[in-house]
Amino acid sequence: MLIDLHPQAADVARLVSLGMAKQPKQLPAWLLYDAEGSRLFEAICEQPEYGLTRTETALLERHAPALAQALGPGVLVEFGAGSARKVGPLLRSLKPPAYVPLDISAEHLANACVELRQHFPQVPVLGICCDYSQLDQLPAHPLLEGQARLGFYPGSSLGNFTPTDAQALLCQLSKLLGPGGKLLIGIDQPKAVERLEAAYNDAAGVSAAFAKNLLVRLNRDLAGNFDPQLFSYRARWEAEHSRIAMALVSAREQSVQLAGQVWSFGAGEELITEHSFKYDPEAFRALAAAAGWSCSQSWSDPQGDLSLHLLVQADPAIAGRLC
Ligand code: AVJ
Repeated sequence: MLIDLHPQAADVARLVSLGMAKQPKQLPAWLLYDAEGSRLFEAICEQPEYGLTRTETALLERHAPALAQALGPGVLVEFGAGSARKVGPLLRSLKPPAYVPLDISAEHLANACVELRQHFPQVPVLGICCDYSQLDQLPAHPLLEGQARLGFYPGSSLGNFTPTDAQALLCQLSKLLGPGGKLLIGIDQPKAVERLEAAYNDAAGVSAAFAKNLLVRLNRDLAGNFDPQLFSYRARWEAEHSRIAMALVSAREQSVQLAGQVWSFGAGEELITEHSFKYDPEAFRALAAAAGWSCSQSWSDPQGDLSLHLLVQADPAIAGRLC
């Protein structure tokens, strides 16, 4: 069972036009995740340079009983579940009355739901295909009725949003989870620039293929004529923003057609495919506080690469003023 709320083609075209008109050009990160993009992202997670997934998975496995205890009873709602490879330990410890994975990639999500039902036959699964950043409420469904909602937002996907948008998203998740909602979130931390840049530009070229697949996707879905060979991939750490900027760089002056419009690129001009903002634990807790959440517990790996935070809603009066 899957509820499909994926943006319509016309909305996608409108968002792409807005992004292409920006200076620099920048498209919403969720566009990276068509079926092939989701497959490539999983391959990124297995690259030796990209430690985030391994570190977070180990933390989740190690602390699952404590996490389940701190979360308490309720339906588990995961934002950007992908193939739902991280939720296993939580499902085992928490035994929630339902698991609701949200993801933009319909095919990927459908497969994940099938696998989950095989591995966890006792947990009802309700997949929702959507852009969770644009969702202000969960669709009504018997599985969600009368249950507290526990959010699970691993992978540091919040890093794809600017700090201002991230704060707004955290407010929105609070509304979506409802009164008494809690949120378990994984946040990647700043670290040595060499490690950061290598993680986003792996030697095997999977990160580059992932970014270039955006052009293939736009060609297919919006009648585009990008030549991926005329773009190179670049990832760099921008310390002043505490973010990695990932971009496709135009090899020469060129113009490209997309959804009936023509866009020109100068030689060396960038199309930003995504940002990945990094926060140390204190900076993240401050961001969460500005969105009406208070942090009841945090967990980190010994190297301080990544942190997990259990957020509980602050006093509704405070949250009401902030969001
Ligand atoms: C899914 C946004 C967390 O920023 O690390 C990884 C995406 N892109 N390599 C990240 C990503 C290229 C990833 N997030």
